[in-house]
This record gives sequence, structure tokens and C-alpha cells, in this order.
Amino acid sequence: MVDVQWERFAIMACESSRAVGIFDSGVGGLTVHRRIVERLPNENVVYLGDTARVPYGTKSANTVERYARNCAGALLKEGIKLLVVACNTASAYALESLRDNLDIPVLGVVEPGAQRAAQQTRNGRIGIIGTSGTIASGEYQRAIERYAPESQVYCTACPLFVPLAEEGWVTGGIPEQIVHHYLAALLDARIDTLVLGCTHYPLLKEAIGAVVGPEVFLVDSAEATAAAVADTIEGLGIARTTEESPERRFLVTDDTNTFARVGALFLGEPITNVHWVDF
Ligand code: DGL
Repeated sequence: MVDVQWERFAIMACESSRAVGIFDSGVGGLTVHRRIVERLPNENVVYLGDTARVPYGTKSANTVERYARNCAGALLKEGIKLLVVACNTASAYALESLRDNLDIPVLGVVEPGAQRAAQQTRNGRIGIIGTSGTIASGEYQRAIERYAPESQVYCTACPLFVPLAEEGWVTGGIPEQIVHHYLAALLDARIDTLVLGCTHYPLLKEAIGAVVGPEVFLVDSAEATAAAVADTIEGLGIARTTEESPERRFLVTDDTNTFARVGALFLGEPITNVHWVDF
């Protein structure tokens, strides 16, 4: 494995026409991409899926941080004006280090999701589900503690949700049984809010909703993050203003066709303009 030298990119002035950069371990972050372009349809967006190294969710903090730095470096070479870490595991393990080392705004998915959950809960009992890495990092737990210190947080890792989503096997008896298996303890704890703390989980919303019932509010971190990205871009005055239609590019570190096929499930539309990159 080649560890790309950490480079410091000084972006002196953010030009509004520069793209928003988004990275994830693979296809999952397309759920975040989808919400971002819904909120900001005029922005150029370049998305990097590190499909050669996926999954991040089972790897150590050091490894995920190194991968995240490499992804950020590849996107900075594209001249982006803002970086979105769409991967929950990478946000949990690497956001601080990316923020410390980059001269452009860096947004993750943990903080917006945690904030939304803290605003939403009525009984102060919040559930969080994510990869093993995200849950082990304690980042969601700490973020909720900041926004709603009185609340009780109950967490569980749901590793089987990622392959289910990628298979497109997201509704019906089998996914619901698996959801029930993972969430039984959270339901016993009488949570009223559940954070979908993984890029893949919005695809399982229907099955999760069927198991937890309408009284449990599902927080989609992708939606919350898109709102935070829109606020940041508007707040900094760096929104793209030209009339020409925006460019959407996709970079992957493994096979482009597989990404386009599986990724369409996550993006909700066909994917073109996919290019292979190495770092
Ligand atoms: N993108 C990852 C996340 O949101 C899920 C897939 C993986 O384990 O890499 O944590």
C-alpha cells in the first residue's frame, strides 16, 4: 500500500465555480451526494468512491485515517472548494485530522446527524446504528452528549446492513428479521429517535421503519449533512452562480462498471462519467 505524502493545498480564495468534493469508502456516500444535489442543484460535484479499499467500517482507526487522507488528497487535486466526508466511519475517525490539515471547509456526517437527533427526541432516549468502527469510535455518542447532555444514548453496530443494501435486498421478511435482530435491545430501551449512522442505511429505511414503528423518528444523516453543506456554502458566499449546467464526475479506485451498476441503487438514477483513479 502506497501512502501518499500529505500535501498542504493552500486555496487562497474559494472560487465559487469550483466543485464540491465528496468522498466515501465506496458507493454508500451516493446517498449523501443525492441529498446534496437536491439541495444544491447548481453545484459542480466530484465524488470519489474508494472502492478498492472498501469496507472502512471494519478497519482500525489508523487505517481509516490514512485512507481518508489519501481520498482528500485526490480530491484536492481536482481543485475543490469544500470537502464532504460522506462516510460515517471516516467522519468518525478522520474528520479532526482533515480539518487540521486542510485550508478548505471540511464537513462530516456525524455532527449534523447527532444535532438533528438531539433536536428531534422527546423522551431523551436516542438510538444510534452504524458500522463497528463508527460505533466503537464513540463520536456520535460524544456529539449527542454536546447537543443534548441529558439524553441517554443506545448504540449498536449492524454490519449485515451494508451487504443487504448493496445487493438491493432492502424490503421483505429477511431484511426485517435482520433489522429486528439488531434493534431489539434499542426498542427495549424505548428509544424515540434512531440515527441511521451509515451511508447505506437510508436504503433500508422501509424495513427499519416497519420494525421500529411510526413512533420512532428516523434521522437520516445524509439529509442533515446536505442541509449543513447548503448552510456552509451560502454562509461563505461561495455558491456557484453561472447558468451553465453543472458537472457531476465520479472517481473510483476499482472497477468503474460495478460502481455505476451498484451505485445507481444509491443515487436513484443512472451513473455516467465514472473514471478510475489511483493513489
Ligand atoms: N461508508 C461506510 C460508512 O458510512 C459504510 C461502508 C463501509 O464499511 O465502508 O460508515
